[in-house]
Amino acid sequence: MNKLHISVLLKEILEILDPKPFNTYIDGTLGLAGHSLAILEKVNFSDIQLIGLDRDPKSLDLAKELLKPYPEQIDLINTRFSALPDLDRENKLKLKYKLGGILLDLGISSWQLKEAGLSFLNPKIPLDMRLDPWCKLNASEIVNEWTEKKLADLFWDLADYKPARRLAKLIVKNRPIKDMEHLVDLCKEISGGTNSKIHSATLPLMALRIAVNEELSELEQGLRKIIDWMQPESKLLVISFHSGEDRIVKNIFREFYKAGKINLLTEKPLIPSALEIKQNPRSRSAKLRVLIKKTVSDLY
Ligand SMILES: C[S@@+](CC[C@H](N)C(=O)[O-])C[C@H]1O[C@@H](n2cnc3c(N)ncnc32)[C@H](O)[C@@H]1O
Repeated sequence: MNKLHISVLLKEILEILDPKPFNTYIDGTLGLAGHSLAILEKVNFSDIQLIGLDRDPKSLDLAKELLKPYPEQIDLINTRFSALPDLDRENKLKLKYKLGGILLDLGISSWQLKEAGLSFLNPKIPLDMRLDPWCKLNASEIVNEWTEKKLADLFWDLADYKPARRLAKLIVKNRPIKDMEHLVDLCKEISGGTNSKIHSATLPLMALRIAVNEELSELEQGLRKIIDWMQPESKLLVISFHSGEDRIVKNIFREFYKAGKINLLTEKPLIPSALEIKQNPRSRSAKLRVLIKKTVSDLY
């Protein structure tokens, strides 16, 4: 088990994906390669290809080290998963075998919260939060330049943060917001020391991270492009961690199901067992939805 990040729903992913030799699997959110290593271990050095993508170049470097035992089986690419079909069209994605499945384990790894400056765990850093060079805005630009109304909507829409309006007002009043510590202090002021189970800055910072990294539009565009591009009988497994993500996954899966292009392998999302949640509390909000692309003969 990797101490920097514990992979969520690992047993379920392996059971559903059922990895076999002479297949290519794509881990679209490689992270610290927990799921990928389990896939490679299951087929035990056979002829298999694993393509790992991560938008965060630092994360990809760490994964490269962890995947060293499998030099023949892996190909790693620093990109967003929505770029997959384009990479294929441009001949930059060399699929060795037929596509068995694609995994998207959304969000970020536990270590990124601190190292990539995405949380209150590392307050003395500039407000940036960009995981890749393709992001249009950084966190400082959002908190210092957006209108009060737009900021309030951001905290409310992306994190269901109840005092969204009050925080937006306080931010505008205290501009310029200098660094992460400054923003975290304003969040603490809003909570007024209430006895919440989570840190007072958790939800606002999550909303900010989602906005900076365009996580919802990336998911929406990426899913549509990927499902259209997938080969017949390949599976797509998506793990989401908050209601905004799961709503997008559920709706897009339904849309493709109604269009007759896919079958749903999960009517309702799979969730972690009580034991998994106890061992890894971060898994408590995880939801797994799975689809399989129809064969060409199914379509006609
Ligand atoms: C939850 S972690 C994955 C953990 C991994 N499954 C494991 O078991 O170690 C998500 C990873 O995906 C990356 N990521 C998030 N959104 C992405 C996207 N749209 N395209 C590519 N990588 C993404 C993050 O940088 C992070 O490293």
